[in-house]
Amino acid sequence: MRFEGIIFDLDGVICSTDEYHYEAWKKSADDLGIYFDKQINNRLRGVSRGESLEIVLERYDGMMSQEKKAEILISKNDIYLQLLQKMSTKDLDKDVKKTLEILKKKELKLAIGSSSKNAKIILKKIGLENFFDAISDGTMITKSKPDPEVFLLAADMIGLKPQECLVIEDAIAGVEAAKAGGFECAAIGDALKSDLPEYKLNTFSDILKLV
Ligand code: BG6
Ligand code: MG
Repeated sequence: MRFEGIIFDLDGVICSTDEYHYEAWKKSADDLGIYFDKQINNRLRGVSRGESLEIVLERYDGMMSQEKKAEILISKNDIYLQLLQKMSTKDLDKDVKKTLEILKKKELKLAIGSSSKNAKIILKKIGLENFFDAISDGTMITKSKPDPEVFLLAADMIGLKPQECLVIEDAIAGVEAAKAGGFECAAIGDALKSDLPEYKLNTFSDILKLV
């Protein structure tokens, strides 16, 4: 087999939470009188919550205290968590579920490598809390994508070297992180714009052609 393990990004790869992140950031930006649209939201893909706020604040006139920033991060996440309540096992796409099951039968090690601090909550909502061999997420790292830390930790947790794993990503920052860590990478969605990944996926099940 070409790979021993696969490390999946979560948001935008296993499930779609874009709309919820957008809604929560939009409400937070509106409250501050800051312009925010879907194009700006797209720049937050793969980036940590704190770094996302800095991108949102590029359009803020003046200085903001660390206390105020911390307050906004809490309130943005409260709105986001509220929206996540709507998620259920119905939000796990059939193609994704089927593909994951086939990959598991092939005895590949499967891990999550996500910048999100809410990764475990989301996995529970979609019924995958006990599916993966390891979950490396935003609560366990100090440097977010494009730094490779979250993927290196995931590889370590499944006992594999980067060269033995394939990373699946929808974010440019995520593709950069994978390459910086010495992983081969398959792009889906927004990451298809990048020339860095070795493979391009039209649908999630295209992964099966690579293993
Ligand atoms: C990533 C998302 O998975 O998680 C980003 O693509 C998000 O948009 C990041 O900012 C952090 O998420 P959370 O859930 O910790 O706020
Ligand atoms: Mg993503």
